[in-house]
Amino acid sequence: MLLITKRLGFSSAHRLFDPELSDDENLEVFGKCSYKGGHGHNYKLEVTVSGEIDEKTGMIIDVKVLKGIVEKEIISKLDHKNLNTDVEILKDTMPTVENIAVKIWDALDLKIEKGKLFEIKLFETNDNFVTYRGR
Ligand code: NI
Repeated sequence: MLLITKRLGFSSAHRLFDPELSDDENLEVFGKCSYKGGHGHNYKLEVTVSGEIDEKTGMIIDVKVLKGIVEKEIISKLDHKNLNTDVEILKDTMPTVENIAVKIWDALDLKIEKGKLFEIKLFETNDNFVTYRGR
C-alpha cells in the first residue's frame, strides 16, 4: 500500500466542560481543561491519502493540491478560532482531540479527488494525538 501524508498546523482555543455538570464535577472529569478561561493548543494535523501512482504525474495526489484542500476545508475554519463556539463543523461537539479528528475526517473525506483518505492524525501536543481511519 502506498500512502502520502501532508502535515499542517493550526492554533486554536478550547475548553472541555459539560454545562450540565457543576464546576467541581467538570474538574473531576476534565481536569485543568475545564478551567473557565479556556486554553490554547498548537495542533498538528497529518492527512494521509492512499492510492496508485498516476502514470503521467508519478504521484498519488499532488501534495500542493492536498494542502490546498486541507487549508480551505480545515485550517481556514479552525485556525485562531474558539473551537467551542466559532467553528461550524464542531457545532454541538465537545472539542476533544478525538472529536475534532473525526469531524476533520468527515469534512475532508469527500473533498479528496485523487486517491482515498486513509488516515487523520491530530496532535494536540507532542505527546497526545489521535489516529482515525474512518468508521
Ligand atoms: Ni486542551
